[in-house]
Amino acid sequence: MDGLDYWRDGTRVGRSGQHSDDPGELAPLFHQQGSECGRPRQGPVFYDHGLMSQLRTLSAAEVPSERLLLRKALHDADREGFIELSTDPEVQKYIGGPRPRSEVEQRFDAVITANATSSPGNYVIADNTTNRLIGTLMLARRSTDSPGHVTEDGEELELGYVLRRSAWGAGFAFEAATAALRVAADELPDQPVLLVTQTANTRSLKLAARLGFRPISTFEEYGAEQTLCTAPLSMFKI
Ligand SMILES: CC(C)(COP(=O)(O)OP(=O)(O)OC[C@H]1O[C@@H](n2cnc3c(N)ncnc32)[C@H](O)[C@@H]1OP(=O)(O)O)[C@@H](O)C(=O)NCCC(=O)NCCS
Repeated sequence: MDGLDYWRDGTRVGRSGQHSDDPGELAPLFHQQGSECGRPRQGPVFYDHGLMSQLRTLSAAEVPSERLLLRKALHDADREGFIELSTDPEVQKYIGGPRPRSEVEQRFDAVITANATSSPGNYVIADNTTNRLIGTLMLARRSTDSPGHVTEDGEELELGYVLRRSAWGAGFAFEAATAALRVAADELPDQPVLLVTQTANTRSLKLAARLGFRPISTFEEYGAEQTLCTAPLSMFKI
């Protein structure tokens, strides 16, 4: 593992020079507490980020890629896909467990009524030929209330992704995340991006590594080990 970058006010202010293959060896700036992706009872989509939403993230209404369209708009036709994401035990294995269908139906109705996908950084990942929902992506601000930060002020950009089980193994999450991060890198100043996932979630960790995120710490939260990964946003600029 290379040295760790230190950030303040969105600017890289230093580098630790620390070398370690052990994700447990950390610079003190990195707080080892909870996890967004490992957070139980929240479901994977459309987090309520409260005050964080006032901070900047990706603003595009749509982000196209070769096979996909990331769109902020949630459609009635997304209902089954949206419900499946939150009720499929395999999809939910590392992100809080499946939710009761009735609860998720109510949440979909509330989200579509309130047009909640307009909240910053939340996208439907759709197939660009059929417009069918295959997952969701989040590039939002990590609350200071949540543990796991790489800056003193917190509220760093954080990436999250969830695909329907039938869409795994085709590179869709990689393609969606790359597209979102490239546009964000064009729009926003360089800053760290976080990715937090259960250490047992090997698919998510493999994806994080393929995207270029480095694991920098592990910690226990919700009865499971979590891994905090980070990458500079500028890495995705083309
Ligand atoms: C985490 C998750 C999004 C990863 O999905 P994924 O499909 O494995 O991820 P990628 O998009 O990177 O696809 C990689 C796989 O597609 C394959 N692939 C096929 N075509 C590809 C292409 N054109 N480009 C890239 N990869 C391709 C790769 O070989 C790899 O296959 P493998 O699984 O056999 O190693 C998915 O497992 C998921 O939704 N899990 C549940 C939710 C969750 O835990 N989210 C994480 C919260 S932090």
